[in-house]
Amino acid sequence: MQALILAGGKGTRLRPLTLHTPKPIVPIANRPFIYYQLDLLKPLNSEGAMDVILSLSYQPRKIEEALNPDALGGMRFVPIVEAQPLGTAGAIKNAQSFVNGTLIVFNGDVLTDIDLRPVLARHRQRKAAATLVLVDVEDTRAYGVVELNEEGRIQRFLEKPAPGTTKAKSINAGIYLLEPEVLDLIPTGVEFSFEYELFPRLLESKMPLYGDITQAYWLDIGTPERYRQANRDVLNGTVRRFPPGSGAQVTEHGSLIDPSTTIKGKVEVIRSVIGSNCLLEEGAQVVDSVVLSGTRVAEGARVDSSIVGRGSHIGANADVKNAVLGDKSGITDFSTMM
Ligand code: GDD
Ligand code: MG
Repeated sequence: MQALILAGGKGTRLRPLTLHTPKPIVPIANRPFIYYQLDLLKPLNSEGAMDVILSLSYQPRKIEEALNPDALGGMRFVPIVEAQPLGTAGAIKNAQSFVNGTLIVFNGDVLTDIDLRPVLARHRQRKAAATLVLVDVEDTRAYGVVELNEEGRIQRFLEKPAPGTTKAKSINAGIYLLEPEVLDLIPTGVEFSFEYELFPRLLESKMPLYGDITQAYWLDIGTPERYRQANRDVLNGTVRRFPPGSGAQVTEHGSLIDPSTTIKGKVEVIRSVIGSNCLLEEGAQVVDSVVLSGTRVAEGARVDSSIVGRGSHIGANADVKNAVLGDKSGITDFSTMM
């Protein structure tokens, strides 16, 4: 069995965080994101060794370096690097020679605790050519909206539809089970979109396409607000099955502080994540934020509802609010940033 993680996007909406760290490995609760996706595949690994194809394009080497083969529990990595981004379907086509059965595809930025085993069982029972995992959301604008009939067969797929186009609330969760014949509909060697180009072809082909609505936790981590939320949800246990496993403990204020971080004096860290080798000085306050490794929050500085990139320096008594700071940012003493 094979899985493919679409991990080639530029992560534009998460800049500057993703300038030097591609989205699939940005840390969530101090753990590279992709590990949460690999955890979902482990229960399926019992069927025989699972190949995990990593479809890479943006900063591929960083993703390969971040992966620890020991964390794979017998699964095998197959990195495939695109010289040019091939789009979400072109990337799948590019891996066709490795695929010999049902292929599980993940968008490389969805955090979920779904159990894929019953989804796979239903996919097989229905003899589906493709099953799309769906999730119901209130605001569908940022997603692909899917209309189903009573049997769960897909009638329409509308990528990021204009408001009022459809009343459907089920969106594409970015997890697909695909049979090999689906890949035959994708042209070779050209940029091709799963959502805009392949899906209309699939509907025309009359292949059996099903939606499988999940009640599991689900979040696309691809914007700063949702990235902070993903961290919070892992810390407060909303994402079942993923207690932070780094050996560090969640504090009574709902925070996770890497053990290698130094705390000088009295500080306040509330609903926040602090990465490795940081320095928090007397009177520092970090609230609802994610502070990545190697960052210093100097005396009396306050960081609120923000993301602070690696190796940054928040000067004494500075006030940072609602900010997304890239790696090596410097905030001068006493300055305000909102
Ligand atoms: N290998 C490769 N090559 N991967 C790519 C490429 C490419 O050219 N372009 C995008 N990707 C990867 C991204 O890294 C990401 O993991 C995934 O494909 C989806 O791209 P996004 O840019 O995050 O898409 P989106 O969030 O706007 O919309 C998609 O996800 C929604 C759910 O979060 C769509 O699939 C929607 O239909 C869906 O609802
Ligand atoms: Mg996305």
